[in-house]
Amino acid sequence: MAGLYGMRTGPLRRVSLTVLLLLAFGVGLVSLRYLSGDPAVVPPSMQASFLANGWIFVMHTIASAIALMVGAAQFLAALRRRWPMVHRWAGRCYVACCAAGAFSAFWIAPDVESGPVATAGFSALAFAWIGVTVVAWRHAVARRVDCHRRWMLRSFALTAAAISLRIQLLVFEALGFDYDQTSALLSFSCWLPNVVLAEMTLWWMRRRGMESEAVPDTVS
Ligand code: HEM
Repeated sequence: MAGLYGMRTGPLRRVSLTVLLLLAFGVGLVSLRYLSGDPAVVPPSMQASFLANGWIFVMHTIASAIALMVGAAQFLAALRRRWPMVHRWAGRCYVACCAAGAFSAFWIAPDVESGPVATAGFSALAFAWIGVTVVAWRHAVARRVDCHRRWMLRSFALTAAAISLRIQLLVFEALGFDYDQTSALLSFSCWLPNVVLAEMTLWWMRRRGMESEAVPDTVS
C-alpha cells in the first residue's frame, strides 16, 4: 500500500501517518478558536501580546493552523495520485499559509512575555520556516520532484513545531512548570529536534533508495 511520499507502507509507517494526521488536525482545529477574536480564548501568558497585536495574532493562529492541517494531508499518497489538482492547490494554500504564519510570527515574537531568548528562538524558527518552504515551493514549480519532496518534508518538520511545543508544554505542566518558565527553552526545543528527525528520515529514505520513486505528475 502506498502511503508517506509514495513509498510502500508497512504497519509502522501507516500508524505514524495516522498519529501525525490526528495530532495535526487536533492542534489545528483547537487553534481555529482564535477566529472568534475573543480574548477569553487566549491563555493568560499571551493576553498582552494578543491585545497589542490584534488581527496579526489572529492571522498567525489561523494561517498556521491551516498550514498544519493542509500540510499533514499532503503526505497522503492516495490523495496525490487520485486528485493531483487537489494536491497542487493544497500545496499553494500551504505555502501561502506558511508565509502568512511566518511573517505574523516575526511580528509577534518581540512581544513574547518571557523575554529575548524566546523572541530569538521563535524568530529563528519563523525565518527557517519561510526560507525552507520557499525552497520547497521553487523545486515544485521547476518540477524537481525529489528535491521538492525533501524540502517539503523539512518544511513540515518546522510546521509541526506547533505539535511538539504543545506536547512538551503538557510534559512541563505535569512536572509543575508553566509556560512562562519554559517558553525560552520551548522556543528552541519545539523545532530543533524536528529538524534532526527530518534529516534522519531523509537519510534513511536515501539509504533505502526511496527517492527514486518519483511521481512527476502529482507534484504541486
Ligand atoms: C513554525 C513557525 C511558528 C512560529 C515562529 C510561531 C510563533 C509563535 C509565537 C511567537 C506565538 C506567541 C507566543 C507568546 O506570546 O508567548 C505563537 C502563538 C501561537 N501559535 Fe505559533 N508559531 C509558529 C507556528 C505555528 C503553527 C504551525 C501553528 C498551528 C496551529 C501555530 C499556532 C499558534 C497558536 C494557536 C498560538 C497562540 C497560543 C496558543 O493558543 O497556544 N503556530 N506562535
